[in-house]
Amino acid sequence: MADDLLARHRAVLPSWMALYYEQPIEIASGAGVRVKDGDGNSYLDFFAGILTNMLGYGVPEINDAVAKQLASGVVHSSTLYLIRHQVELAERIAELSGIPDAKVFFTCSGTEANEAALLLATQFRRSNQVLALRNSYHGRSYAAMGITGNRGWSASSLTPVNVSYVHNGYRYRSPFGQLPDEQFNAAIADDLRDIIATTTSGDVACMIAEPIQGVGGFATPPDGFFGALEEVLDEYEIPFISDEVQTGWGRTGEHFWGYQSHGITPDILTFAKGLGNGLAIGGVVARGDLMDSLSANSISTFGGNPVSVSTAAALATLDYVRDHDLQANALKIGNQLMTGLRPLASEDSIVGDVRGKGLMIGVELVRPGGKTPNAAAAGAILEETRRRGLLIGKGGLHGNVLRIAPPLTLSEEDADEGLAILTESIAAVEGTE
Ligand SMILES: Cc1ncc(COP(=O)(O)O)c(C=O)c1O
Repeated sequence: MADDLLARHRAVLPSWMALYYEQPIEIASGAGVRVKDGDGNSYLDFFAGILTNMLGYGVPEINDAVAKQLASGVVHSSTLYLIRHQVELAERIAELSGIPDAKVFFTCSGTEANEAALLLATQFRRSNQVLALRNSYHGRSYAAMGITGNRGWSASSLTPVNVSYVHNGYRYRSPFGQLPDEQFNAAIADDLRDIIATTTSGDVACMIAEPIQGVGGFATPPDGFFGALEEVLDEYEIPFISDEVQTGWGRTGEHFWGYQSHGITPDILTFAKGLGNGLAIGGVVARGDLMDSLSANSISTFGGNPVSVSTAAALATLDYVRDHDLQANALKIGNQLMTGLRPLASEDSIVGDVRGKGLMIGVELVRPGGKTPNAAAAGAILEETRRRGLLIGKGGLHGNVLRIAPPLTLSEEDADEGLAILTESIAAVEGTE
């Protein structure tokens, strides 16, 4: 059956929409942090639909919120009318964002959220110049691709914005990587000043960055990194956009937002993925003056449709995160996973680097004895973990980084089970190198 579905998939869906595994699987059902495929095999899910099923599967509170909305008969009304859940959710997110006088605009995806953020900043500053980080990923529209610093995800060079790429905080492969944290941050801030002086006309619209680069392999800068960059941005009054599509809602454990590790408050923040626990919702939060700076109308039709249903799910998801203190759980279980994985990295191993925060952990695979990216090992480990009943992700510029990002509800026992499978799978592939 799975093979038949695969053939049908290949016949009518784009070749560039990659599937995991030599024999791709269909996720047919799920409960808690586990899913079953179409053949009835069970898996512990450490990738959660790319960090999107933030609470896991079949969560009664979310199902009830959605059912209640459906029972009202209104799935969509459009933003031409008042939407109670939209207002309530905007109030909650505006307050949580930490941005003063914040306003919120809802979208259906992270891409659209970043498009909206770029529109606000470029209009507000009357400039089309944008600073982005190397190894970044911000989405699949022309503007979002234009600020994506990863060739594997940039299918076109067409872009409405004029981008200068800044060094990122990816210590393991950075030319400044040997420096201690503070000097590392200062070196990249100096370089940023040079980039602004040499590649822009000074009146830059904004800088956009992911606090931890998601698709880029969970590349995690030292704390304070964006604080050092912001000092330079402030010299030019350049607004900072924090793309929290992967890092938001407490996933990093230490904080609710990724930006909070850096002693800054962004001017604009974008979000998506986990908020609806699988229902499509994204958005942008901005200072009121920035948000209200557009001089023409702008709506998102489905920013109204899933909003009536997804805002119900999103409110229930935020309640769940707060009521179960999932940020604290992300910190605790993240530390447990990190403690188990970190010792695997060594000079003569295929594990070159283990990094991340909370439940966002990257394991970078290399050829033993150096830093040559080992994408084959990442592919082989994905197969090994799958055989043993664990789903994980991969990413990084070279496709050589394992990405571990389970639901925030993961228990200690489930973490131990996943850790054992990961360790065995890495050892199995190491043995064949
Ligand atoms: C950091 C980041 N920004 C933006 C996006 C784009 O979100 P979407 O796929 O919902 O358009 C992604 C998606 O992976 C992401 O990881």
